[in-house]
Amino acid sequence: MWCLIAAPAFRQAEKTPALEARLDRRLLALAWTSLLLALLSGIGWLIIVASQMSGMPLAAVVQQGVLGVVLTQTQFGKVWLVRGALVIVLAACLLVRIRSWKQIVRWIGLAVCAALIVSLAWAGHGAATEDLPGDFLHLPADLLHLLATGVWLGTLVPLALLLAEMLRDASPAGLTISRAACLRFSTLGITCVGILVVTGIVNTWFLSGSIPALVGTLYGQLLLVKVAVFVAMIAVANANRSRLVPVLAHAASEVSERLKAVRTLSRNVFAEATLGIVVLSIVGIIGILPPGLHTEPRWPFPFRLDLSEVAAGAQKVLDVAAILFVLCLAAGVIAAEKRRYRAAAVSLAGLVLCGGVAASAMRPGMVPAYPTTFYAPTQQYAAPSVTRGAPLYAANCAVCHGAEGRGDGPLAKSLPIPPADLTEPHLFAHSVGDIFWWVSYGRAQGVMPGFADKLTPDQRWDLINFVLARTAGILTDATGSQVVTTAAPPLPDFAFEQNGAQNTLSETLKNGPVLLVLFAPSAPRVRLGQLARLAPRLGTAGLHVIAVGLGKSTVEAPFVVDVSDDVRATLALFRSSKDGGETELMLDRNGSVRARWTEGGPGKLAGGPILLADAVRVSKIPMAMANHAGHAQ
Ligand code: HEC
Repeated sequence: MWCLIAAPAFRQAEKTPALEARLDRRLLALAWTSLLLALLSGIGWLIIVASQMSGMPLAAVVQQGVLGVVLTQTQFGKVWLVRGALVIVLAACLLVRIRSWKQIVRWIGLAVCAALIVSLAWAGHGAATEDLPGDFLHLPADLLHLLATGVWLGTLVPLALLLAEMLRDASPAGLTISRAACLRFSTLGITCVGILVVTGIVNTWFLSGSIPALVGTLYGQLLLVKVAVFVAMIAVANANRSRLVPVLAHAASEVSERLKAVRTLSRNVFAEATLGIVVLSIVGIIGILPPGLHTEPRWPFPFRLDLSEVAAGAQKVLDVAAILFVLCLAAGVIAAEKRRYRAAAVSLAGLVLCGGVAASAMRPGMVPAYPTTFYAPTQQYAAPSVTRGAPLYAANCAVCHGAEGRGDGPLAKSLPIPPADLTEPHLFAHSVGDIFWWVSYGRAQGVMPGFADKLTPDQRWDLINFVLARTAGILTDATGSQVVTTAAPPLPDFAFEQNGAQNTLSETLKNGPVLLVLFAPSAPRVRLGQLARLAPRLGTAGLHVIAVGLGKSTVEAPFVVDVSDDVRATLALFRSSKDGGETELMLDRNGSVRARWTEGGPGKLAGGPILLADAVRVSKIPMAMANHAGHAQ
């Protein structure tokens, strides 16, 4: 406050040592109180964290030397030691009362304060490394966010004190100082708000990551409340800036008018500071919740937007409406700011019109949604889960949906609504969370019962993985030798052993597309030999070959890997008896089947040039085409 606002403001008026001394006393009292609060809450925080880390009750932590261990041997403790040292330096700064040193000590104090507040970033999530793109931005964004918070809120309360002091004095010098202080604060505040908005968006992306996480978790909802209070703070600040500060700054304003403006300003600044404390309290609560990424979001609305269901023409209308909406919004804000209320009303009408057009264009995209719509499977879409799901399907679902899922079980004929054919591509249009809801709580007004009481959540996910894998297998049978660039059936992940080393399909796919060779019963040695000769050239296109024998016996041949029985059973879903001795599947990086060649099929197996060209084509398919089975996540 002294460095950035008060000292320069005092320099604008003639010397008022009494006034300066009074303000100094009040700010000093505020500084000591804040420092004491920071110290005590910091000690309390440390004790609680130490108790959580050691699993001991609070009293034991203090008596049994746990604190020492935490302080010296954990990252949190080391940060706290640094913070403790900074608090001592700050206290020393406050104790220095030598006049000629004052200004330099204040600047040192400011630097130490900045260090104290940004050090919090290493105690929070900013320091935890997460595997997200652009992660290097997270820590700097956190630091700037903390710093901007400190500068804005840290000067807000002192500014209110300054205005109150100047009001008591009511001298012309006091008014000049108030005006200079408000103008300086105004610039500082705008800078801070700008930084807070940008870094806040970056942090939200890292900590909640998606709309469902924002609206569907307690964490995200608190974040939204925080943003709303923050917007209210900006509204108050904006009113101060655009209404009151000009009255102060205008030389022709009456003194009584200016005094009134200072009074309102000081009241508003207190209101803004109170809102600031509300924001900090919400941050405090958020700080002890797990971040949005780590809990399943419960979707609160009965519908969701699926833009893939909106026709291309309607999407263009939507784009235009969105652009017009933003333009109307900007025009409306500017008109209201300039008090052109008729223009503002026209903009508002434009907003409503754009909103209406957009809503009607989006209607087909409004698909039903359930609380679990955005749940991620707890069981990975992989061979072990698929194998566990198969007997569960036979025991619970086959009576209606049929042994092969075609909707023709023994009970099907007697039902008022026929059971769905689970082998249709349409199954992949649903989110796995939707399917999880139906399997848990039933469908078609209870014609299909819910299984939440009978099966654990993990069992339900196993079941869903099995149903998806079987349908993917049936869709694979219909895949030809031409590379499919639209939705493609996903192959479950599986583990294998090659030359004594453990590996998985998903790990292999990280390096590029895979040609999966499935054979039974005997190894196609001639073909594998041919592929082995092509291997160097295939490698340049990033294509890896994995060969799996679905028969019982293990074989020694190029590319042939060892797999367990559940992998064999799962991969058997992706081969039909019509295929002849061998099936070859080209998998993209998501593990989706993009092309298929069979020994028994019309086109037979592909030669080297075709494999090469197709591998390149498959690598170019954008990853956004991810399937719903969770490979991409
Ligand atoms: C009592 C008969 C019955 C049983 C048992 C049953 N279902 Fe259903 N299932 C239905 C009916 C009826 C529908 C609704 C079809 C419709 O809405 O047109 C349905 C719909 C579905 C759908 C929605 C498909 C879609 O594309 O809309 C899925 C998925 C599903 N069932 C999975 C299962 C699974 C998994 C099990 C075993 C845990 C199971 N069902 C057990 C009768 C049954």
